[in-house]
Amino acid sequence: MDGNIMKRDTVAMDEAAGELVIIDQTRLPGETVLLRLSKAEEIYDAIYHLRVRGAPAIGVAAAIGLWAVCLRLPDGDREGFVTELRRVKTYLAGARPTAVNLAWALDRMERVALDHSESTVPELKTLLKEEARAIRDEDIQVCRRIGEYGLTLIGDGWGILTHCNAGQLATTRYGTALAPIHLGRERGMNFRVFTDETRPLLQGARLSACELAADGVDTTLICDNMASSVMKRGWVQAVFVGCDRVAANGDTANKIGTSGVAILAKHYGIPFYVCAPTSTIDMACPDGGAIQIEERPGREVTEMWYERPMAPEGVKVYNPAFDVTEADLVTAFVTEYGVLRPPFGPAFRKLFAEKDGKEG
Ligand code: MRU
Repeated sequence: MDGNIMKRDTVAMDEAAGELVIIDQTRLPGETVLLRLSKAEEIYDAIYHLRVRGAPAIGVAAAIGLWAVCLRLPDGDREGFVTELRRVKTYLAGARPTAVNLAWALDRMERVALDHSESTVPELKTLLKEEARAIRDEDIQVCRRIGEYGLTLIGDGWGILTHCNAGQLATTRYGTALAPIHLGRERGMNFRVFTDETRPLLQGARLSACELAADGVDTTLICDNMASSVMKRGWVQAVFVGCDRVAANGDTANKIGTSGVAILAKHYGIPFYVCAPTSTIDMACPDGGAIQIEERPGREVTEMWYERPMAPEGVKVYNPAFDVTEADLVTAFVTEYGVLRPPFGPAFRKLFAEKDGKEG
């Protein structure tokens, strides 16, 4: 297959085969390998082990995956079908608890079954396919719009720092934090992007550097502890990051290390932008203290990527996958509806009131 990851969707739906198709991100940057999944356990495993990762991509993958699982259920028993759909939904939702898009997309799929109580199982299978397709298509459109709005905040030739991977590999297409860069490239603009390697799972080194290079972007990889140094030198005009869950007051959970970058950006007077699809804003969550932070195995810190363990056997390890950046460190949120400035609580409430009004 074509190894250029920018030429294919990160998450796809094979409607003929009834399968979820993902790029296995644990094999990047060395190999571009596609996985075809249709069983609940393998979809859970792919999400948990970050074969597919990034909040929007996880949501789309779970929706398509749930459809693929349901497609294989027997046609006769409607009650049994809905019971199994809900069981698999709850199971998949537990794979990555911080990324709100996972629960959000699965809720949308479940609602299809609940809202169509008269439909037969074959009809429900078609409706679930349409919903999964809609979730995927919306993700692409939302990311493109975030890219457009984000591009209004940056100039040709700017230095931009990013953390983790909130690019095309974290969504179906374009990404969120890297969408303005990809769109700018389409229009002949050039940027100098500094990508934090992002310990412990190296999403910056393995994924952001990979996709930016594939798009011809001038990319410089730095260790996480080098951000202050490049900012001090005046090489960074803006920071762009993604998010896994934004609370109603603007507190933002994103990849571990993001809050440190935000503190540095404030120190050096550099704008800190969070690119957030509205599906990642959780109005039911009042503030960052209410966000559940996923903790992962210690071996990701002590031995993953190394030829031999790099810490004494039995050492205690604390490995939170995300941290919370307080709202007052965020310059603005870039959503698919525009750029939101503080105070974020009222800005979010107004946005959702207008959005719900339009959709209702
Ligand atoms: O653990 P990961 O790789 O799923 O974490 C991803 C991030 O933290 C991203 O910044 C976030 O999901 C936004 S992706 C558009």
